[in-house]
Amino acid sequence: MAKLEDITVLKSTSTRLSKDLVEQNEFGAVISDHMFIADYHNQDWHDAKVIPYSDLSLNPATLALHYGQSVFEGMKAFRMKDGKISIYRIQKHLQRFNRSLERMCMPTVPEYLFTEALKKVVDVDRNWVPEGEGHSLYIRPFVFASEARFGVKIAEEYKFIIFSGPVGPYYGTPLKLKVETHYSRAIKGGTGYAKCAGNYGASFYPTQLAKSEGYDQVLWTDGKEHKYIEESGTMNVMFVVDGLLITPATSDSILDGVTRDSILQLTEILGMKHEERKISVEELESWLKSGKLQEAFGAGTAAVVAPIDRISIEGIDYTLPVATPETFMMRVKHKLMDIRTGASEDIFGWNTIV
Ligand SMILES: Cc1ncc(COP(=O)(O)O)c(C=O)c1O
Repeated sequence: MAKLEDITVLKSTSTRLSKDLVEQNEFGAVISDHMFIADYHNQDWHDAKVIPYSDLSLNPATLALHYGQSVFEGMKAFRMKDGKISIYRIQKHLQRFNRSLERMCMPTVPEYLFTEALKKVVDVDRNWVPEGEGHSLYIRPFVFASEARFGVKIAEEYKFIIFSGPVGPYYGTPLKLKVETHYSRAIKGGTGYAKCAGNYGASFYPTQLAKSEGYDQVLWTDGKEHKYIEESGTMNVMFVVDGLLITPATSDSILDGVTRDSILQLTEILGMKHEERKISVEELESWLKSGKLQEAFGAGTAAVVAPIDRISIEGIDYTLPVATPETFMMRVKHKLMDIRTGASEDIFGWNTIV
């Protein structure tokens, strides 16, 4: 078993870092200088190290490529007002990572390995953490089955890798969503709550169709009856109706978002009451028709808070009010940012300073 002190750091002799790269705005286009990597075999993690970012050499029979044992997380580190670097909600991301890994019959990652690996890989690339509103270092931990065989089986060998890259704001303009009542992202008893690679691959086709119709994303409904609202793209969804924040309750077909959880914990401080429950498409439609829906937004690590300005139900488009600075979504977005950058007290202990 790898111990804390076992995580060696081999620094790159050169850097690709430039001001332009750190400040660029294309999400996912730029990767920092280093990565963490560890191998799982003989039922334990070994050889944990931070090394210069590089390609992997993969056997074509690598099991993850064939049978989909691949699980990831998406997290962020921020440059605080005093120049320190903080990693956001490590524990909550680790809990979800391990739940996803268990669902996919993959080895879980011990807390100390996850935490120390993150700290070391962020520390070595700390100059890559951008400053400024909406900018951060996106961190991608993932595990995949690296064993090479072609029989359908649970792999016995895996790789755990973490890399990062500077990112700017995810969506520049408010979102147009299409309520999806034909295709499904997840079903009861399936893998919807897990951040496994296959969930994303399977969502591309319906999303592409929605995009060809002029929408940005689909708003998923339950896979059984297409009657209840679930989530959208890489975001949970939230609505403000008659001054109350309402969001679908998490289930085995909805990802338990860290941003969602953070926003719900912040409601009280911001004087907002909230409900987590089922929301039917019919109910959403009645809010839209009656004008009761004051706000609709997506919540996720990449986008943080993404205003929604149009929702389409069965071919009818409904337009939503513009997100002004007084709206709950904007107030909570700023509160979150203030906590992450140290402008507001970190009352929940969400930041890990590197
Ligand atoms: C399917 C899905 N739902 C919701 C979310 C939001 O989760 P989080 O706030 O943890 O990023 C994500 C992003 O990770 C996602 O991929």
